[in-house]
Amino acid sequence: MKILRRSLLAAALLTPALPAFAAPLVMGFSQVGAESEWRTANTASVKAAAKEAGITLKFADAQQKQENQVKAIRSYIAQKVDVIAFSPVVESGWDTVLKEAKAAGIPVILTDRSVKVADPSLYATFIGSDFVEEGRKAGRWVVERAAKAPGGALNIVELQGTVGSAPAIDRKKGFEEVIKANAKLQIIRSQSGEFTRAKGKEVMESFLKQRDKKIDVLFAHNDDMAIGAIQAIEEAGLKPGQDIAIVSIDGVRGAFEAMKAGKLNVTVECNPLLGPQLMQLAKDIVAKKPVDKRITVTESVYTADVAAKELPNRKY
Ligand code: AHR
Repeated sequence: MKILRRSLLAAALLTPALPAFAAPLVMGFSQVGAESEWRTANTASVKAAAKEAGITLKFADAQQKQENQVKAIRSYIAQKVDVIAFSPVVESGWDTVLKEAKAAGIPVILTDRSVKVADPSLYATFIGSDFVEEGRKAGRWVVERAAKAPGGALNIVELQGTVGSAPAIDRKKGFEEVIKANAKLQIIRSQSGEFTRAKGKEVMESFLKQRDKKIDVLFAHNDDMAIGAIQAIEEAGLKPGQDIAIVSIDGVRGAFEAMKAGKLNVTVECNPLLGPQLMQLAKDIVAKKPVDKRITVTESVYTADVAAKELPNRKY
């Protein structure tokens, strides 16, 4: 008995002290929706990165509605999460709910899209792409193409993203800023396709039905709308990528497949794989470490001639 007690004591003394268990950090995340291939990849990246980082993720899909995002944020405040992250469906109308988060002492991280608020201290940081620059990149490709094309006006139609969203506003701005350098380039029609394939197709069909002017170029604010529009162009008996040159934004696999098939001319990359950086930021902010107010993502432009080579390397 004595021997057993002694060996138990020795074992207890030899066992290293267990670390004190800190409760896992809890993040409330409000996602825009599931409107595009890009968004699906973004959601997957956030969920996988939270798991990898040991962060408990409370996730809500807002189905492209600001009111759903406001509700989700309020419920995260009520649940006293450690940090709130969200990708705002539109730019404006966030002051009140963000003030509520600030009053509750919960830091907010903006991911992918930014907001327009009177007081920038209402959020800790914004991580996401430079949408104006993406629009400029698309515009530069069109300007270069126009320089090679002899003759008169080049008529452009534009499929805009969700009305009031940062990417729709900024991509339009960047694109127009660049194309205005060439008077030959005119946007003859512009309408929202809500960042979805179905709406992109529907709006392109209506553009094609208005036969007053020939369409030379389509600028789509994302690949999904371009892919929907490609279908509409084919159904109208035209060759996408040839009869109508197409430039879009995101760089999803579907766009690379369309480029490989010669139906899309160029895609400007917008990287959705923000999860790992977001989780690190959350940890740093909760630990009160200083972080940059604006974190941008490095991105490229891919043309149809490199699509086949690049396709196997695409991660989304
Ligand atoms: O905010 C990023 C944009 O939102 C992507 O370009 C688009 O595909 C998505 O729905």
